Amino acid sequence: MSTNSVSRIFVIGATGAQGIPVVRSLVSDGRYTVLALSRDAQSTRAKSLLDFGGVSILEGTFADEAVLREGFRTCDGAFVNIDGFNSGERTEMYWAIRCYEIALEEGIRFFIYGNLDYTVKKAGYDSRFRTGHYDGKGRIGEWILWQNETNRDRMGAALFTTGPYMEMALSSRTPMTPTVEDGIVTWRVPLGEGAVVHVALEDCGYYVRWLFDNPERANGMNLEVALEHVKYADLAAAFEKVTGHSAQYIDTPLDDYFGGRLKMVADQPAGYNADPRDKSTMSFRDNFTGFWNQWKYNIIARDYDLLDEIHPTRIKNVEQWLRREDELGKKDGRGSLWERVQPENLQRHSILKVGEDMRQGKL
Ligand SMILES: NC(=O)c1ccc[n+]([C@@H]2O[C@H](COP(=O)([O-])OP(=O)(O)OC[C@H]3O[C@@H](n4cnc5c(N)ncnc54)[C@H](OP(=O)(O)O)[C@@H]3O)[C@@H](O)[C@H]2O)c1
Repeated sequence: MSTNSVSRIFVIGATGAQGIPVVRSLVSDGRYTVLALSRDAQSTRAKSLLDFGGVSILEGTFADEAVLREGFRTCDGAFVNIDGFNSGERTEMYWAIRCYEIALEEGIRFFIYGNLDYTVKKAGYDSRFRTGHYDGKGRIGEWILWQNETNRDRMGAALFTTGPYMEMALSSRTPMTPTVEDGIVTWRVPLGEGAVVHVALEDCGYYVRWLFDNPERANGMNLEVALEHVKYADLAAAFEKVTGHSAQYIDTPLDDYFGGRLKMVADQPAGYNADPRDKSTMSFRDNFTGFWNQWKYNIIARDYDLLDEIHPTRIKNVEQWLRREDELGKKDGRGSLWERVQPENLQRHSILKVGEDMRQGKL
């Protein structure tokens, strides 16, 4: 057995859209147990994790050294997805660094960092692509791999680099929430002819599990995942094919995009607890301008051959994802995709906890 093999994993972000399938996958066969951090152990999402079995909750915040220390000390593995939409970019970076340092100090054997692309660097340091919630993670991701060159035998580390969840294109309170206009499902986003590197949440569970299961190969790895580069004209065409209902993509100028349903948040800090007086705090508008530009101008690449090798049965395209989601929804009572995008149903649920909590909560 590798010295970086682990059995009990401290998960930060466990009740989130990404954390839930990750936790489910880790405990699915009893190979691992999970200690899940949550600010509220009584929330519906925190309680639902307990139903998986093999999960216990540590109540507290990632912005507290004593809490982090307790979580890392009682585990030997860690999956860390710090929520920058709470803290803002600057504070996220500080706590992500402290997580790595405290994990090492407290004896974690394998550390997986929930990462995003370092967009402004990948775009040649062009500020039109500055995306706080990507750059904040991406910088720390590079820093972790750098530390890992020295520390890899004491604590292995890997980056798990994702992208926008495909589920967000069918959910309320996300940057790509659809509307139904004259009976046509419509995505109005500033994407041009570009493509979003969407990920399927279910596959995130598989990939994180694979990283913990294969510590020798995973140590020092940056696993960058996606289902495919999704053009929104293709998303609309696939939706029509799967559901038999009309759908369309309307390329939308940035000013119209931020002047529409996002008007209320456009000038607020991207992180709901970030200080609006701090000049390093990006507004929602500035942050998501860079976000859409990175897709519009195809800044982000993926190695799909590698993903096929690691996860041969992964979801490989948006049509396959929609088909699966349609079937799952019909089976578990959420309804068909067509039913789910109707405004009265859409508003009932947000895939993101931050959407469910309406951008409120303590740091
Ligand atoms: N949306 C996307 O497509 C996407 C894709 C890739 C990466 N990300 C990144 O993922 C992060 C958010 O995770 P998510 O996508 O799963 O969003 P989410 O569904 O909104 O979940 C947020 C998670 O963060 C936890 N959290 C927030 N503040 C916390 C604090 N102070 N202490 C401890 N836990 C805290 C929440 O736990 P409790 O509420 O239970 O405390 C919850 O588990 C962000 O940094 C975002 O940039 C997002």
